[in-house]
Amino acid sequence: MTAPGPHMPTPDRDESRRRFFKFLAASPLAALAYASLPHGWLEELAAKEPVDPFVPGSWRVPECVSCGAPILPPAAAPANAHLSLPTRQQAPQQIPPQNAQEEQLTGSLIASPEDAVNVWDFERVTHENNLAQHWDYLHMGVEDYETRRANREGFNRLALRTRRLSAEPPKRPDTSIEILGQRFNSPLFLCPVAALQAYHTQGEAGAGRAARRRGILQIQSNQSSMSYEEIAEARGEPHWFQIYTQPDWNRNKRLIDRVAAAGCPTLVWTVDLLGGSNRELARRSVVGEGTQGALCQNCHNHQQGYQRPMNRDSGPAGERIPYTWDWVSRLKDASDMNFVIKGIVTAEDAEMAIEHGADGIFVSNHGGRAENSLWASIDSLPEVVAAVRGRVPVMIDSGVRRGTDVFKALALGADAVGIGRPYVWGLGAFGEDGVDRVIQLIMAELGIVMGQTQTTSVAEINSRFVMERPNPIMMRHNELGFGL
Ligand SMILES: Cc1cc2nc3c(=O)[nH]c(=O)nc-3n(C[C@H](O)[C@H](O)[C@H](O)COP(=O)(O)O)c2cc1C
Repeated sequence: MTAPGPHMPTPDRDESRRRFFKFLAASPLAALAYASLPHGWLEELAAKEPVDPFVPGSWRVPECVSCGAPILPPAAAPANAHLSLPTRQQAPQQIPPQNAQEEQLTGSLIASPEDAVNVWDFERVTHENNLAQHWDYLHMGVEDYETRRANREGFNRLALRTRRLSAEPPKRPDTSIEILGQRFNSPLFLCPVAALQAYHTQGEAGAGRAARRRGILQIQSNQSSMSYEEIAEARGEPHWFQIYTQPDWNRNKRLIDRVAAAGCPTLVWTVDLLGGSNRELARRSVVGEGTQGALCQNCHNHQQGYQRPMNRDSGPAGERIPYTWDWVSRLKDASDMNFVIKGIVTAEDAEMAIEHGADGIFVSNHGGRAENSLWASIDSLPEVVAAVRGRVPVMIDSGVRRGTDVFKALALGADAVGIGRPYVWGLGAFGEDGVDRVIQLIMAELGIVMGQTQTTSVAEINSRFVMERPNPIMMRHNELGFGL
């Protein structure tokens, strides 16, 4: 047999896995493996009622989840029953198709938010639902996406040091936090993402309602599709606002005054695009031919104030001026709002920002959309935390996809942890309910890891719970670039 060489097509790994599972399911080996299990002892134990001393009479005969037939203890089952287990072909008609495993392997689309097992389940649906240009704008990173990838690798390089038992019976984990005078149910928050109506007509209002339902912070983008007042009304309470400054100070001041008058408690200034960013996908796809089409112009050019944020492929629109640290004091002094600076990745900048009056530091590389630094946001967190020395809260985003990522960031000293793309995947897939489910999934994952580490409050999560692994674990990856 010829060994596959570089010129030969490599076998499709998913396809071979699928074939392997099919083979296993149909094989008599499966029945033999079943027979060799020490079955019976659990059922015997369970049959001694009551099983759970706290729930009298809780035991009942277990049923097959597919057809509802009782699963009999071995004594009641005919001898050699394991040898005549129905194969898939012989199975009675009422058993639904056993394709769950295959759907996991092929990445089928979910039909409702409840079907989602993790946040990536929403990514494919949003991809399917969306215009190519809108999708590209959401998905892209700068240059070769290396910072975007590094953001995930950074989290994957951190391992958990779990603690198994505690002195006292553990309480239910309390994930609530207080940040800049406000209390939230979770350290998780929604980052400012431009133009959310490009993904769902509910836009920022839908995301805001979901955030409110779960009691978490939402930050509105300067480039949002809806006004501050519309979102605050939908949400039922004011949220934070992110600003991209303009060289004309009066324009900044008018915007600041407007959101402050609407009750905004905290202003966030994003500084990681001030030098521009090399968004190649935007140049190819978004600013290319397609955008001249009638379809795009219907929405964008025929509505006032509805210009394409994604058309500005290299950072905030308008002329660039050399911003200096004085702008921090200037923006801070322009209102009574708290002032947070977003896009800090170094100890030096964190120190300067605090010196100039920042009330909070937001560690971020814009989800890999600023510069191709190849430096994970989570990897820049420790030096920022060390420089801040607890004087102001530290927030972080970029690459957060799991409750364990939130936990790791908290362990390294973050006070709050943000998601960008994942909630937009939820929004693009199912509107408010999709965002709600994304938040719920990550919060549930955080609850599990807190349970596993015996931590009962966010304050108890410290650096003793994480350690660095020498090599990142295998990345989620496929040919379409999903899964980052
Ligand atoms: C499509 C898109 C638009 C964004 N728009 C803004 C914005 O208007 N203002 C801002 O400060 N950050 C913006 N960001 C960055 C996010 O606030 C956040 O830093 C980033 O998405 C976090 O990384 P993640 O997507 O990997 O979770 C945007 C991100 C994306 C993906």
